[in-house]
Amino acid sequence: MEAEFQRTFVMVKPDGVERGVIGEVISRLERKGLKIVGMKMLKIGEELAKNHYAEHKEKPFFDSLVAYITSGPVVAMVVEGKEAIRVVRTLVGATNPIDASPGTIRGDFGMDLGRNIIHASDSEESAEREVSLFFNPDEIFTYERAIDKWIYE
Ligand code: RTP
Ligand code: MG
Repeated sequence: MEAEFQRTFVMVKPDGVERGVIGEVISRLERKGLKIVGMKMLKIGEELAKNHYAEHKEKPFFDSLVAYITSGPVVAMVVEGKEAIRVVRTLVGATNPIDASPGTIRGDFGMDLGRNIIHASDSEESAEREVSLFFNPDEIFTYERAIDKWIYE
């Protein structure tokens, strides 16, 4: 894999699952040209939630964030592509859906900061940490797509 290719962790949050936009989110990732190399549905327990969002543990919204993310099943993914971390964050949009641009996932589907549909890693360090929190190495797949030569020069 070339140096500029990255893997990032993406998750359809419980509100996204409840609202029936799992397919919409996956479609947007696929049509952009990103490759899904891992995917599973799970219900996040309190310990995993606190670990995943450890950077926010001192924030006033931490308890409600943990309650939100553990409130129902999520769909977790590992997504691969050139500059995938930045590309996915751009597709996702601003943290608060009120501010997120139309055309982004949060801009098109959300209305509230505490119900913002999707999570995506924000740096190489968090991507590596989050991928390994949610996926075992044998749950991540390396495969060639014939179409990649039409996606990348
Ligand atoms: P995420 O980690 O979920 O992808 O979201 P993000 O990077 O865009 O935003 P981050 O700052 O990491 O915040 C994590 C999640 O916490 C909730 N939040 N609530 N009440 C508040 O002020 C507040 N701020 C953030 C959001 O659900 C956000 O996605
Ligand atoms: Mg974040």
